[in-house]
Amino acid sequence: MCGIIGIVGSRDVTERLVDGLKRLEYRGYDSSGVAVLDKGKLIRQRAEGKIKGLEAKLKTDHVDGQTGIAHTRWATHGVPNETNAHPHFSGRVGVVHNGIIENFLDIRTELKHRDFRTETDTEVVSHLVDEALGKGLDPKDAFSESLKKLKGAYAFGVIIDDHPDHIYCARSGSPLALGVGDGEMYLGSDAMALAQLTSKLIYLEEGDWAILTPNSYEIYDLDDNKVEREITVLTGGPAMAEKGNYRHFMLKEMYEQPETIGRTLSNYIDEYRLAANVPAELNFEEFDRIIIIACGTACYAGMVAKYWFEQAAGLAVDVDIASEFRYRKPVLSPKSLFIAVSQSGETADTLAALRYCKEAGVKTAALVNVMTSTMAREADIALPINAGPEIGVASTKAFTSQLTALAALALAAGTSRGVISNEAQKRMANALIKTPRHVKQALRLDKQIEAMAFDFSKSKSAFYLGRGSQVPIAFEGALKLKEISYIHAEGYAAGELKHGPIALIEDGTPVIVLAPFDRLFEKTISNLQEVASRGAHIILITDEEGASHAASMADNMIVLPTCDHFVAPIITTIAVQLLAYHTAVHLGTDVDQPRNLAKSVTVE
Ligand code: F6R
Repeated sequence: MCGIIGIVGSRDVTERLVDGLKRLEYRGYDSSGVAVLDKGKLIRQRAEGKIKGLEAKLKTDHVDGQTGIAHTRWATHGVPNETNAHPHFSGRVGVVHNGIIENFLDIRTELKHRDFRTETDTEVVSHLVDEALGKGLDPKDAFSESLKKLKGAYAFGVIIDDHPDHIYCARSGSPLALGVGDGEMYLGSDAMALAQLTSKLIYLEEGDWAILTPNSYEIYDLDDNKVEREITVLTGGPAMAEKGNYRHFMLKEMYEQPETIGRTLSNYIDEYRLAANVPAELNFEEFDRIIIIACGTACYAGMVAKYWFEQAAGLAVDVDIASEFRYRKPVLSPKSLFIAVSQSGETADTLAALRYCKEAGVKTAALVNVMTSTMAREADIALPINAGPEIGVASTKAFTSQLTALAALALAAGTSRGVISNEAQKRMANALIKTPRHVKQALRLDKQIEAMAFDFSKSKSAFYLGRGSQVPIAFEGALKLKEISYIHAEGYAAGELKHGPIALIEDGTPVIVLAPFDRLFEKTISNLQEVASRGAHIILITDEEGASHAASMADNMIVLPTCDHFVAPIITTIAVQLLAYHTAVHLGTDVDQPRNLAKSVTVE
């Protein structure tokens, strides 16, 4: 959610700043800009829309210098136009910001004598620093004094006109990393932005601020004490995920799933013992409750896990969306285990929930894809999913890896708590080991689903139904469709439809029914008939046995490979992902960067 990057060095920076912005574009893409110091003068170029717009402007009207900051925006305050695009300038000061300044209206009132030119919350920062400089404070004091006036979440980069070889930066609530180079220093929203510049990163802690020059960095904490922070050395080089021959990152990431699930499994399942393999600190005998907190797709993974933990381990599980959990008064016990599920490991609400539980003395774990993320660093136990960089804004491979890891954790819990037999443990481990193969088979239905999506793409609205652990997959199917095709869709527990939403079913309304041949199959098929008899167009997603029982009741059918019911939600996911993807492609939407969305939601 907004990406920032900065370089202070001894050669021109614009090209590298723009390259870094492209790596950050998944964080927001409604406008972008770059500002540099050229012979002690602040100059900038900004453009509405994606970064290619900025590149085009820079081609005709290039700006360059040896100190610079750049930004790609996801608008919070102020429409996404060029005026509101960062960097913002006030007097001698230029700023890029990720986050929300909550008290910006108060500060604007306090500074009403100044000339505000944008609708953004960010502009107060450049005004505050410039005002402090005007009162005679040196840049360091002007910056630190200004920080003290701000409330909210932020990661900033600030440059000042007559301090050409300095960048001032700070973080509170939004992630920010420093990069240590050879005769250059960098700042960036995440490792992805900096990996092509340096392998030496320093993750700033909450409340930290820093001063960068080409050959030095100084870091201060919230109380302005000079502090040392550890240097992390990135391994694996400047991996910039490439699309290869795929039309979209999302398609590529869906096709990677047999491999990414395999990687997740290698972390959590011992193939020889046919048993789960989890970190020793995760002793499930210690807990009487699990609290899973996440947002969006990651939360649906948590909802599936509730079925698994209850069934396999007899453990009570609360699943909640982070934005609600953090402002309730959740009842916590010292015997609870908190699990944050997050691809990015940076989602503001999930991170706040993690901190809340940690402070309350609850043991915390973070199931994340980015092991350098704030959640991975702050949780008591960091649990990787190893799905590799996910660039498509709509989450696919991270979701199936989250499911895979959570299934293995449930298996571990069931085993250590003595709830499942040795035989059941081996059966479940085996089912997980076979998942990459079943996912591969499911992906072979791609062409059939693409053809089906042609008619489906003409729909105005769709419903997804399931029972048991398929309910969260119905939610996920509906979410995928909404976010990339912009077709209205809702997921429901199949038994719930007749308590209201069935009123929306009319002739031709598409209803996607998720019904593997499990113990709830017949109940789901009864619900299918209730909507079919009211004119719904049924797309049945089932397995071979289910197809042999219910083929005559469906208008279209997607027949997935037969697998153990334990892992069926992972396999059904592939079908709903492909359906959403092809529908969006038929409609010609921007699949990888859908309107209004950003990949990493670092504001609440
Ligand atoms: C939907 C999607 C989002 C994320 C949510 C949480 O396709 O990707 O709903 O799942 O924003 O993000 P993370 O997992 O990074 O915390």
